[in-house]
Order: sequence, then structure tokens, then C-alpha cells
Amino acid sequence: MTRHVVLVGMMGAGKTTIGRALAAHLQRPFVDSDQLIEATTGRTVREIWEEDGEPAFRVLETRALVDALSEPEPLVIAAAGGTVLRQENRDALERAHALVVWLRADPGALSQRVTTHGHRPLLDGDPEAAMRRLLPEREHFYAEVAHAVVDTGAASPDDVLVEVLAVVEEADQS
Ligand code: S3P
Repeated sequence: MTRHVVLVGMMGAGKTTIGRALAAHLQRPFVDSDQLIEATTGRTVREIWEEDGEPAFRVLETRALVDALSEPEPLVIAAAGGTVLRQENRDALERAHALVVWLRADPGALSQRVTTHGHRPLLDGDPEAAMRRLLPEREHFYAEVAHAVVDTGAASPDDVLVEVLAVVEEADQS
């Protein structure tokens, strides 16, 4: 069965970079949930966050995930870092039988990796401290939804891509 591949993990884990490369490799469309929100609302993540608040953003995030998962064509989806927080999102991933891959890294590596903070208000100030606070709150959710874990901390994007491709190929054969 060909199913959506969904990359989850913290900000800076490489979901967008790896997701785009994976989609190109698999010749599938790529959807990034933040970009989908921005395209459908005509506003930036930061604008939504600052003007309407995080809960309003989370509602849009759910809508973006559910919309992407409802596409009949198998996609590669980069699900923004906070997607796993809501039970309904975790349920939607399960219902869609999506293949979920957790791109995992430690807070030090993550905070070094995040070069753009524009769409990441949670990282304003001290990104590493934010990562250290957020990761323990979220790790169990990533672990709960993921069918496979790929460590991205020290690995190059090419190496991560090879590992994720191996996960997808194995899942396709089972
Ligand atoms: C968030 C992650 C961001 C973005 C927003 C909130 C989070 O997306 O949706 O800043 O709560 O982890 P990325 O994971 O794509 O950076």
C-alpha cells in the first residue's frame, strides 16, 4: 500500500529540507504544514501567532494536517514541530495510516541548525533554552506517532535522506 510519508520532529530537525529531497526522490508532491497555512490564510505563521495567539495557530495547524492527509495522492508531508501536541492530530495520523518518521536530534544540535526564526516565535530569545524546555514535553508524542526514528543530529542531509528512504522502501515492501 502506498501511503503518505509524514516527517515529524522538533524545529530544526530537518523536516523541510529532508522532506523536499525525499519528495523529489519519490516523485511525489511535497507539503510543508507551515507553508500550507501561510498559503491558505495569506498570512505568515508569525502574524497569526502574534495577532491571534498560539491556540488559533494550532487550529489552523490541525486543518492543514487533515487537509494534506485527505489528499488521495500519496504525499511527503513535513508536519510542523507542534503538530503532535494535539490528540486529534495524532489520531488523524493513525487514521490515515500514514508512515510517520521522527527526525530526532538533541537540543544543542537543533538550536545550532535553526537559522531562521521568522516562523518560530517559540525560539525568540534563547533558542537552545527553548529546545531544552520543549523537547522533554514533546518527545513521548513523537515516539507515540512514529513508526521509525532517524537521528539527524550529527548526520549530513544526504545521509539522513538515505536512512529515511530505507524506511520508506521497507514499509512499501511490507
Ligand atoms: C512550531 C514549529 C514551527 C512552527 C511554529 C511552531 C512548534 O514549525 O509551526 O513556530 O511548536 O514546534 P517547524 O517545526 O517547521 O519549524
